[in-house]
Amino acid sequence: MQIRPYQGTDEAEVLAVWHAAMTHDRISPNIFRTQVLLDPNFTPENLPVAVEDGRVVGFVLALTRQVPLFLQGLEPEKAWITAFGVHPDYQRRGIGRALFEHVLGRLRAEGRKTVDISPYVPNYFVPGVDVAAYPGTITFLEQAVGFRTLYRAISMGADLSGFQIPPEILELERRREAEDGITIRPVTAADLPELMPFIVRHFGWDWYRHAQAYLLELFGGSPHQICFLVARERGRIVGYCQQRGERFGPFGVDPECRNKGVGRLLLFRCLETMSARNVYFAYFLWTGEDAARLYALAGFKRRREFAVLRLDL
Ligand SMILES: CC(C)(COP(=O)(O)OP(=O)(O)OC[C@H]1O[C@@H](n2cnc3c(N)ncnc32)[C@H](O)[C@@H]1OP(=O)(O)O)[C@@H](O)C(=O)NCCC(=O)NCCS
Repeated sequence: MQIRPYQGTDEAEVLAVWHAAMTHDRISPNIFRTQVLLDPNFTPENLPVAVEDGRVVGFVLALTRQVPLFLQGLEPEKAWITAFGVHPDYQRRGIGRALFEHVLGRLRAEGRKTVDISPYVPNYFVPGVDVAAYPGTITFLEQAVGFRTLYRAISMGADLSGFQIPPEILELERRREAEDGITIRPVTAADLPELMPFIVRHFGWDWYRHAQAYLLELFGGSPHQICFLVARERGRIVGYCQQRGERFGPFGVDPECRNKGVGRLLLFRCLETMSARNVYFAYFLWTGEDAARLYALAGFKRRREFAVLRLDL
């Protein structure tokens, strides 16, 4: 068994291993090209492959910042692993352990201090390891490699057929508007100068990047699948939410204005817009237990649960 950096001609074999090992997270060649090979942080050395019997039988995809993420910078002490797998015919022969030792040795030598699976922005596939789909993987990571689980991320989905805003939410909306001057409206150009700094201040550069991508589409001529709402309280922006296609979020409310129902109103108004555009399903990949309760009110059900893991190098 030989471990070497990824080469351009490995694509089909890497994807064959990906599909056989990561059965619940299959990707197309085009997603591999756009989200892996064209990621400016991709380097072939950080995608080592294990070769045996003349073919690729395993891989680990690690990322470190080669270019800064806006003002979040290069994050020189951090690294991420977003995908890995050993072909089932070759598992339990030490290949997974050898691949991880190889990549972790490289990251240590570069002075990285932590490696996380798999909350890397921009191009993560899933928040971490699906605990139901890959139970053996958690054992492998925790016991054979030394990772620990930091927290769980919940992915949920909702069937929007016949979606209606319940009367109590409409009542809440009326009360909040009358008593606190809270309004929920589709984004306009007039929101942008206040909105973009609001997003950076409260939610960071990754959410800024997300919002910017949708707004570029919305104002750039392909608005069909996008709903972007802004919440104001007495004229000041206190929250927003965004959606494209079936994917809902992110959405956020100023920490000082939480627990007044603003998030609930944004969520229900956005889902209503989606169902009126004949989007029949809504999902997101990542939330915690508190927000999961809010989503459950709107009919979201748990789909997957992920362990987010870290190794201190
Ligand atoms: C996790 C994975 C890469 C391990 O690869 P591997 O080559 O089989 O791992 P190794 O042979 O090096 O295993 C080393 C040790 O890890 C533990 N381990 C590995 N797989 C395990 C499993 N399925 N159940 C329990 N323990 C396991 C064992 O302690 C093993 O040592 P042992 O075989 O002597 O008991 C492989 O199982 C896999 O491809 N899983 C699916 C892919 C996946 O979940 N990707 C993550 C999506 S984000």
